Amino acid sequence: MSAAAPAVRAVNLVKIYQTGGLPVPAVRGVDLTVEAGEFVAIMGPSGSGKSTLVHMLGGLDTRTSGEIWIEGTRADTLSESGWALLRRRNIGFVFQFFNLVDNMTVADNVELPALLGGSTAKHARERREYLLGELGLTGKADVAPSRLSGGEQQRVALARALSNHPRVLLADEPTGNLDSRNTRDVLRLLGEVHRQGQTIVLVTHDARVAGLADRVVTLLDGQIVDDGAIGLPRRRTKGGPGDVVELRG
Ligand SMILES: Nc1ncnc2c1ncn2[C@@H]1O[C@H](COP(=O)(O)OP(=O)(O)O)[C@@H](O)[C@H]1O
Ligand SMILES: [Mg+2]
Repeated sequence: MSAAAPAVRAVNLVKIYQTGGLPVPAVRGVDLTVEAGEFVAIMGPSGSGKSTLVHMLGGLDTRTSGEIWIEGTRADTLSESGWALLRRRNIGFVFQFFNLVDNMTVADNVELPALLGGSTAKHARERREYLLGELGLTGKADVAPSRLSGGEQQRVALARALSNHPRVLLADEPTGNLDSRNTRDVLRLLGEVHRQGQTIVLVTHDARVAGLADRVVTLLDGQIVDDGAIGLPRRRTKGGPGDVVELRG
């Protein structure tokens, strides 16, 4: 593992779902390198493979073929327990559907990844207080997640994903259920942790969220059709569909 290794690297990554015998290609040969400290937004229409891609990058879905590297370590060949260990140490994940543990308080949900990652109880508590504070959730620390609104649960899920200072934050539409004020809180926190060096790979439909990123990658039918730094000339990775995708505005 070298310090210069990219945070995340996918090489010719492919996912073909087999449902009822009918193959559904969801990700079709994605090459993606995310450098340490980079903030990459993944955009694209519904069904273009965004969730499948980030799930594979976090080991939550198996790949059909191709390679995944996390910080210079080959990850796609890991067992489920190997992935679990890698996630505990290196990856924070915000799911589209939160996956909070309801028989634990909000505070315990947020502290759990830090404690599993080896933080002291004091550090885990301080980190939780900081994250819930930034997200306007200080008053909700002692309740069960099911007592919260969808938008509140989504922010708790973000706090949980950041609690163990993950090397990489993977997030699938983390503002999908938020009104504009809460979106602002999430944007402020994402910007802040990014400035502190947090690597972020985030799926979003929201141009304001993508606007915070260093780079926007656009998927269409399971392939990257556009990959460019904000404000710089875009690199077209493939001919054809890339030519009709326009991200500006
Ligand atoms: N578990 C699954 N089984 C079969 N097909 C799936 C499954 N999950 C996603 N797909 C299909 O894979 C494609 C990409 O889906 P997804 O990654 O969820 O796209 P997005 O997140 O961009 O909306 C879609 O055609 C979707 O129907
Ligand atoms: Mg999705």
